[in-house]
Amino acid sequence: MMRQVTVIEHLLLHQKENPLATGNFTRLLNELILAAKIISRAVNKAGLMNVLGETGEINVQGEQVQKLDELANRVLIHRLQRAGVLCAMASEENADLIDVPDQYGKGKYFLVFDPLDGSSNIDANVSIGTIFSIYRVKDPERATLSELLQKGEEQVAAGYFLYGSSTMLVYTTGDGVHGFTLDPSVGEFLLSHPNIKIPKSGKIYSVNEGYSAFWDEQTRKTIEIFKTASEKTYSLRYIGSLVADFHRTLLYGGIFMYPKDSRDPKKTHGKLRLLYEANPMAFIVEQAGGMAIDGSRRILSIQPEDLHQRVPLFIGSSKEVQKVAEIYQN
Ligand code: AHG
Ligand code: MN
Ligand code: MN
Repeated sequence: MMRQVTVIEHLLLHQKENPLATGNFTRLLNELILAAKIISRAVNKAGLMNVLGETGEINVQGEQVQKLDELANRVLIHRLQRAGVLCAMASEENADLIDVPDQYGKGKYFLVFDPLDGSSNIDANVSIGTIFSIYRVKDPERATLSELLQKGEEQVAAGYFLYGSSTMLVYTTGDGVHGFTLDPSVGEFLLSHPNIKIPKSGKIYSVNEGYSAFWDEQTRKTIEIFKTASEKTYSLRYIGSLVADFHRTLLYGGIFMYPKDSRDPKKTHGKLRLLYEANPMAFIVEQAGGMAIDGSRRILSIQPEDLHQRVPLFIGSSKEVQKVAEIYQN
């Protein structure tokens, strides 16, 4: 029988090379895993648990809050506040930083998350996910917003849970990218995709072309190269859940794009958020040998100024992302 390795076992096995594998980091990852199992259970039984549909609220992003968005957010905050290893948290669903009450103990980590990604797909039983990103803070006693807002390259770990045809965890601590599949019968995530590498080039491009009327000339040209490439024919795939679109891109290669568009009054960005979506995926893709840019800049080098800042995102195989960079350079 294949030897089955759990996430924590895997983390401990890599402990020698991984200074993060202290009790605190392991605790943090354990709490995230437990929260994700609870969310995964709710996702699996959504139609039976009265968690489909909207809550009627509008969140800080100006979007309708789904019942599952709220449930996932509540589960994560509840579990992680009690972990005793965080100094603060930030969620895509909360306008401000989420404090960690003193009674639970504070630690040196700052956790950022998108509790439920792909909300528009929930009611249709299409893959959705949870994205997380972890930073270390120099002085947890003085965890002001400007101390907490660090470049993506400062992340100490990032990952996502994908609630798809199976539930998976894919994460990196800067030592490659590793994928685990939840075995519901034993209740553990077991190593299924060790050391994932993204193909250098792929045959899929992924973008919401419905917005092409809102794109500028450069962006239109960019998408055009994938439709008219002479060396190969690209296929278009777009799920509308970043976690799922990204996961496919990671395994099959190709590119996922969410460019800037003129629905944004300043025309500087699209919909995706730097902290909750772009940075964690950029860390993972670079660790897997791929690239992530906003057109001209490396995503991980952008200094965030705001918790909910948005960025254009081009992410995937180095060959395809490089092509995009060339167009935006001219
Ligand atoms: P969220 O559900 O966390 O708000 O994120 C949705 C995001 C992302 O998952 C996806 O890539 C994108 O929205 C799809 O947006 P469009 O519907 O504008 O294409
Ligand atoms: Mn999202
Ligand atoms: Mn979300």
